[in-house]
Amino acid sequence: MEDPPGRLAWRRNAMDKHTSKILVTSGLPYANGPIHLGHLVEYIQTDIWVRFQRLRGRDCIFVCGSDAHGTPIMLQAREEGISAEEMVVTYQQEHQRDLGRFMVEFDNFYTTHSEENRELVEEIYHRLTERNLIERRVIEQAYDEEAGMFLPDRFIRGTCPVCGAEDQYGDSCEVCGATYSPGEIRDPKSILSGAPPVLKESEHVFFRLGEFEAMLKNWTANGAVDTGVARKLDEWFDAGLRDWDISRDAPYFGFQIPDTEDKFFYVWLDAPVGYLASFKNLCDSRTDLNFEEYFEPGSQTELYHFIGKDIIYFHALFWPAVLEGAKYRLPTAIFAHGFLTVNGQKMSKSRGTFISAAAYLEHLDPEYLRYYYAVKLGSGIEDIDLNLDDFVARTNSDLVGKLVNIASRCAGFISKNFDGRLSDQLENPALQEEFVNAAVSIEACYEHRQYSKATREIMKLADRANQYIDERKPWVLARNEKTAAEVQNVCTQGLNLFRVLMIYLKPVLPELAKKTEEFLGIDALSWADLAEPVLGRSIQPYRPMMLRVDDKAVSALVEALQEPA
Ligand code: MSP
Ligand code: ZN
Repeated sequence: MEDPPGRLAWRRNAMDKHTSKILVTSGLPYANGPIHLGHLVEYIQTDIWVRFQRLRGRDCIFVCGSDAHGTPIMLQAREEGISAEEMVVTYQQEHQRDLGRFMVEFDNFYTTHSEENRELVEEIYHRLTERNLIERRVIEQAYDEEAGMFLPDRFIRGTCPVCGAEDQYGDSCEVCGATYSPGEIRDPKSILSGAPPVLKESEHVFFRLGEFEAMLKNWTANGAVDTGVARKLDEWFDAGLRDWDISRDAPYFGFQIPDTEDKFFYVWLDAPVGYLASFKNLCDSRTDLNFEEYFEPGSQTELYHFIGKDIIYFHALFWPAVLEGAKYRLPTAIFAHGFLTVNGQKMSKSRGTFISAAAYLEHLDPEYLRYYYAVKLGSGIEDIDLNLDDFVARTNSDLVGKLVNIASRCAGFISKNFDGRLSDQLENPALQEEFVNAAVSIEACYEHRQYSKATREIMKLADRANQYIDERKPWVLARNEKTAAEVQNVCTQGLNLFRVLMIYLKPVLPELAKKTEEFLGIDALSWADLAEPVLGRSIQPYRPMMLRVDDKAVSALVEALQEPA
């Protein structure tokens, strides 16, 4: 039989897909706090993309892990009276648990405080040194004599030199927005001891970032970042690339720099190396994976980093320069997203808008949030807002009112009147084809991280499916003996439209997709299954697949946030 022209269009598109292997990462969450809904924008965004690639049959590995090092983590462990090692392991396990509950499907979730990472960081440092890309210089820095340690800018507070606001950070003013160096702030005080910091000299290790200007400009201009990010990078290029201080003095929780007694690698040097370490750790347990194949220069694999807009500098300048300097491959692209606000405000504990993953899960289904973020996410770095009223309305109207409704309207007739059996043919093949051909555009949306557009198109199809059922009115057909047999065809058609929509939504709603597979008695759905409808087989009796979001559950969550911790 000849393919109808529409079907061909979809097949052609499916055939010219790329075949190279893909490695994907999300930013590594700091191991001194819980996963919150802001983090989840990123992990869900990445997970949808990874699941989409796998659904199309691509070989796609997804690694992440906790970011274990740095001064804040060291000090927090001290405060809690435990070792930093102990604290980061606890948080790593908690991160892994919470992300798993949101169905974020990593191949490996590791930690930067690992032997693999230490070895890789030392190797990279060694290679950079050999190539004369490392320099040592004595610098002056703020020092807290009582606490006996050098102070990061954020650990100094004082009066803003520009507007006079009191109790501002050492590097920027929250009142007037000015940025300055810690030397300029008035009445500086260490937040550790309250003592005024003194200036003290120390030798630091620098990476010669400026050497990479031409390479970075070229990489940026050739598709590694979107235009929004490229614009930000241009500002930094214009300001000039300065050498990067990659060392910190003891006491510090991190990896000691070889050939020094009391110097450590700055957390932001070893953190992105943690991507490699997590992957390497995975390779050690999987015979089908070869670390070199993914990271040697000229590698034929693709490497993508998903990150938030706050860490673009590290990922789009330092990181590729370090990789290039140490003779590894460069990332194929950096995908940056915006920040989450809750009801239009920055998340904040004191305002009761800080929602941890665990708190959310006590009241609500993770798939609601996955869907809501998909509806909100585009490919740019604009912030996205979680408006709780909109969240309830949107989820109920789209997922329950439109999507699941298609199945529930059709399933009963099949079970009751036809012994659970679908008919042998579709009632409206042209409509089926229209649904299947939407794959071309929906695929492109997912690929380019335009989930908002993808879900809009899918919901338009859901409307179309409901309209079809409204027009054919199986409940009326069933009452008349002459038309009763048509009901099976109409409902079989309706369920097949639903099945197509569930293939499209599977990257976003993996659990609902699984329930659909069980209900229809079919194998795990993949993109290739668009080609053939399900006909002439038995299905399971329909059970509600998704409940409406309960207003009260949202109120209960909001109330729980107001309670003092
Ligand atoms: N540890 C660093 C990343 C190192 S990657 C080599 C870090 N950690 S983080 O816990 O602060 O953030 C982890 C990721 O979540 C980052 O990509 C960050 O941009 C993202 N988000 C953290 N808070 C966020 C929001 N409120 N909204 C959206 N994304 C957010 O940065
Ligand atoms: Zn100010």
